Amino acid sequence: MGAPVKPAARVAARKQDVWSIVNEAAAASPKQPIVNMGQGFFGYNPPEFILKAAKSALDRVDCNQYSPTKGRPRLKKAIADAYSPLWGRQLNPETEVTITTGANEGMLSAFMGFIEEGDEVIIFEPFFDQYISNIEMPGGKIVYVPLHPPPKGATENTSASEWTIDFAELEAAITPRTKMIVINTPHNPVGKVFSREELLRIGNLCVKNNIIILSDEVYDRLFYTPFTRIATLSPEIERLTLTVGSAGKNFYATGWRVGWLIGPPDLITYAAAAHTRICYSSVSPLQEAAAVGFEEADANNFWENAKVEMKGKMDRFNEIWKELDLPFSDPEGGYFVLVNMKKVKVPADYPFPPQVADRPRDFKLSWFLIQEVGVAAIPPTEFYTDANAHIGEDWLRFAVCKEDEVLERAKERLRELKKYIEA
Ligand SMILES: Cc1ncc(COP(=O)(O)O)c(C=O)c1O
Repeated sequence: MGAPVKPAARVAARKQDVWSIVNEAAAASPKQPIVNMGQGFFGYNPPEFILKAAKSALDRVDCNQYSPTKGRPRLKKAIADAYSPLWGRQLNPETEVTITTGANEGMLSAFMGFIEEGDEVIIFEPFFDQYISNIEMPGGKIVYVPLHPPPKGATENTSASEWTIDFAELEAAITPRTKMIVINTPHNPVGKVFSREELLRIGNLCVKNNIIILSDEVYDRLFYTPFTRIATLSPEIERLTLTVGSAGKNFYATGWRVGWLIGPPDLITYAAAAHTRICYSSVSPLQEAAAVGFEEADANNFWENAKVEMKGKMDRFNEIWKELDLPFSDPEGGYFVLVNMKKVKVPADYPFPPQVADRPRDFKLSWFLIQEVGVAAIPPTEFYTDANAHIGEDWLRFAVCKEDEVLERAKERLRELKKYIEA
């Protein structure tokens, strides 16, 4: 036998990732089938007018061939038209919008376009896990700034707005090597919508220090409190901002892998150049369908319906925490809710497999819930560094973008947790 092949360090995972641990737990659970509220994929289809557009795109010769690297003109125009009123000025679809293969590849392209070995990128903890490898691939160094949880989060219901930034910590994290900062609003997993004041302070710090702002706004149509887009706060801030969007999140189609970046031409040019090298261009028929989604959204009252429907799911699902007297952090946007499980007592001798036994308490809670009640949720310390994992170890993240009947089944099963909850 020859010597084993040696993977590059950038892809040689150090720990088993959370998604495979949760899947293994699900497979091992006696409660089959489990109710999966872990990963943030939708349990239902995009609306009919968008599905119809996708199907008819497949019948068109040009929709089955390469698209321009920066995206199909129809989609860029549809996005520029949809976002211009929100920006308060006309966006140029040719120079200020570029299409990517999902938001994730859009962010990778942004980092590949601007980060060089040793450049620093600030991200808030907890973070969407894909940022890490996307920043590290071009050699970026990540500097973490925690979002501080509500002080009473373990004993009473709180609002996601109570997860706060310590601006002294943020300023201290900025060095001459700071090239970019990543903001995520509405936030995954916290559900926080950053306030206008917070964004203005962050934006002004970036202007002062010439830091590029990557604003991940993939949940931008799901906000339950006023939502501010940092790019719109001042021309100086806009000059430094790349805003990230996702047709997957907007149109309930995470598998379509269509995303975009909006920003000033000198930022878009280089992110688009990186995108061309990473994947050349993005999926043609689904870009066409996403264009129709934007063109026809208002006529179908889609954005308003999407918001009302998701908020309804969120509120109905969260009734269970009131019933069980487990505190949750009420989200201001998106479709994730963080629930504090400090009061859940896992038996001391409970058998955990090795991949869970040496992880923080939330991994054990997640495993326990899957085995004992058959509901899967994500342990949020996956979205923290080891040093700050203690901040998240009593919480679990539930995704409510599921059929109502699934949410009701989850609630029914979660009632079985009662016997493990300390009064
Ligand atoms: C905060 C955040 N950003 C980006 C993404 C990725 O979006 P896409 O599926 O369009 O790549 C996700 C997906 O879960 C997310 O939660």
